[in-house]
Amino acid sequence: MQDNLKIPAHVAIIMDGNGRWAKAQGKPRTFGHTEGAKRVADVTRAAGELGIKYVTLYAFSTENWSRSAEEVGALMKLFRGYLKTCIKDADENNMRIRVIGDKTALDPDIRESIAYVEEHSAKYDGVTLTLAINYGGRDELTRAVRKIAESVEKGKLTASEITADTISASLDAPDIPDPDLMIRTCGEERISNFLLWELAYSELYFTDVAWPDFGPEELKKAVEAYTRRDRRFGGADE
Ligand code: IPE
Ligand code: IPE
Ligand code: MG
Repeated sequence: MQDNLKIPAHVAIIMDGNGRWAKAQGKPRTFGHTEGAKRVADVTRAAGELGIKYVTLYAFSTENWSRSAEEVGALMKLFRGYLKTCIKDADENNMRIRVIGDKTALDPDIRESIAYVEEHSAKYDGVTLTLAINYGGRDELTRAVRKIAESVEKGKLTASEITADTISASLDAPDIPDPDLMIRTCGEERISNFLLWELAYSELYFTDVAWPDFGPEELKKAVEAYTRRDRRFGGADE
């Protein structure tokens, strides 16, 4: 990649297609999740090498609870495992790890692991990896609206003082800039309740490659496509 190309500061990824990838090989969907989880470390490391500062990965949506108990259980087991091994990765790569989404619905041991990992890695200033677990854009906005309503109830804020910045500041990771680039793997071209507010002006990139096959080379392709885009924010040509 040429040095003069603009690198996105924040890349958000909908890691999709684990189930189809496994099924195509006559294997259970959960095998796809296990293989998919292995891509997280490679892709995050590659992102850091490209100069990307923030990576946000959609790991489990508020809608994914509707899957079979077996599949949900397998995914929770993978999160448990990842939250144990990621500490080493964070230490070795100066990586900060955060989680967005409604943590209250997660099992207490997972919540404890998240709290530990977030606290332990808060000192690192390389790549920030944000995992969206039990995350839904509508749920995040609903929780934000509740927080704002509580401030109004307490008399800390009036309705007319509420601005777009008030809403941004009430989201799960208010200090992280909005994604510049959003990637979705495995062919589907929809948002599926990911970062509804934050994606307002992100460039969107869709690839047919399934998440378990998405490696550093695929990330590079997406970033290269991004560098060729003419980004606009509602203005006119210069
Ligand atoms: C993405 O892969 C992982 C999660 C949603 C947890 P899928 O499980 O959605 O795989 P497909 O889309 O059914 O192939
Ligand atoms: C979005 O993928 C959620 C995650 C990748 C975690 P889904 O596979 O759940 O989305 P739909 O059902 O295809 O829209
Ligand atoms: Mg899917």
